[in-house]
Amino acid sequence: IHLQPHDPTQTAHTLQAQPGQSLMQAAVDANLPGIQADCGGLLTCATCHVVVQSDWQSKLPPMSSDEDGMLAFTAQTREAGSRLSCQIELTEELDGLQVTLPASQY
Ligand code: FES
Repeated sequence: IHLQPHDPTQTAHTLQAQPGQSLMQAAVDANLPGIQADCGGLLTCATCHVVVQSDWQSKLPPMSSDEDGMLAFTAQTREAGSRLSCQIELTEELDGLQVTLPASQY
C-alpha cells in the first residue's frame, strides 16, 4: 500500500505499508516526523493525530467513541478530518491514502 502523508509545509512524503498495519505503525516505521505515538497505539496519548484529506474521509471505517473522546486531547485543534492514526488499520482499499500531519506535533 502506498501512503501520502503531507507535512505542515504541504510537502508530500510517499511511504509503503503492509495491509493490517496501522497508519501510526507505518509512519513510525518510516521515521516520519510528526507522529510521536507515545502510547504505542493504546489510544491514551493522542500524539498520533492526523488530518485525513477530504476525499478519503468517507473511505475510512467510522471512529469509535473512545477515539472520538481522545481527539479532544490533541496538541493541534481537532478538524473535520481529524483521526488518531493508530486506530486506522490499513487495507488495500486505502492505497493512496492522503493525510496531513499537524505542525504542533513536531
Ligand atoms: Fe497513542 Fe494513537 S498512538 S493514541
